[in-house]
Amino acid sequence: MVKRVGILGIGTYLPENVVTNHDLAEKLNTSDEWIRSRTGILERRNAPIEMLTSEMATEAGKIAIRDAGLSPKDIGMILVATVTPDYAFPSVASVVQERLGIPSGTPAMDISAACSGFVYGMVTAMHFIQAGSYPYVLVIGAEKFSSIIDWADRSTAVLFGDGAGAIVLGCVYEDRGIISFELGADGARGKHLLADPMVSMSGREVFKFAVRQMPLTVESVVQKAGLKNEDIDFLIPHQANTRIIETARERLALPEEKVSVTVNRYGNTSAASIPLSLAYEIQQGTINDNDIVVLVGFGAGLTWGAVCLRWGK
Ligand code: UT7
Repeated sequence: MVKRVGILGIGTYLPENVVTNHDLAEKLNTSDEWIRSRTGILERRNAPIEMLTSEMATEAGKIAIRDAGLSPKDIGMILVATVTPDYAFPSVASVVQERLGIPSGTPAMDISAACSGFVYGMVTAMHFIQAGSYPYVLVIGAEKFSSIIDWADRSTAVLFGDGAGAIVLGCVYEDRGIISFELGADGARGKHLLADPMVSMSGREVFKFAVRQMPLTVESVVQKAGLKNEDIDFLIPHQANTRIIETARERLALPEEKVSVTVNRYGNTSAASIPLSLAYEIQQGTINDNDIVVLVGFGAGLTWGAVCLRWGK
């Protein structure tokens, strides 16, 4: 029987500096009313200029390893989902290896799938664990979008935030853990959201893609798990816009209390948004042992990805 892989520990890092919509309205031709009503965002965190993505990733990773009851030497592989690395190379994952004291020789690489990157990382880790290559894999989503935003472009500057979230994946008990996954990309539509080096986006196009693709991906991953939409106990969607989340929730016929919303407090943190939301919900006590939890991401590429898992170790 294939080994089941699940989440053994989780950790997050959020920069202290809270930037409100009012703060942005002082510098840009925008308003709290516009940002709130079009995106649901009330505030976001911005890292200090000198803070690197790897520093946020390291802090989140350290907590996740501790939460899993492990030590850095137990980690067999490091995957960091990010599109805002410190440098083109070395990878953030390599920097994290050194900073966390994970032994030299441990494989480390970054995954570039933007807001879907964390799910891509989870699925990659799952396969290495199931193959018996490594017992524990550290998967981190970490982003510093404040460094690639054109602060004069109000259509993107108000959307993004900085932060990091990490999990340790390993084998779990019988029916717990990841049951199914779904990954996809459509390079032909990549032009709608790109960074070269600053972010530019056709908001409307990405919005249309997101509201269509997110429910389709959720339905597909749930079907692959042999379940139905109504079996979902908790949905953790990528946090880009409450209107996108709300439209997807209605299409999936899920009640509000089963869908995570944290974009209001953190903004869109790209690859970090799913682990940040997951950690937030765990802290709130909304996710319980044996729950069916679906994580779903979508974003630049264009890419999408989901995992359906049964919560617990
Ligand atoms: O994580 C990766 C995935 N990214 C996403 O999922 C983002 C998807 N897209 C969206 O969430 C929405 O398209 C946005 C929030 C980005 C924009 O909302 P929208 O309702 O699609 O607005 P729009 O771009 O069509 O702009 C409407 C108006 C425009 O003015 P006119 O042309 O109607 O006069 C914009 O210039 O709103 C204006 N506008 C703003 N006004 C005040 C755009 N940004 C702002 C702003 N403040 N910050």
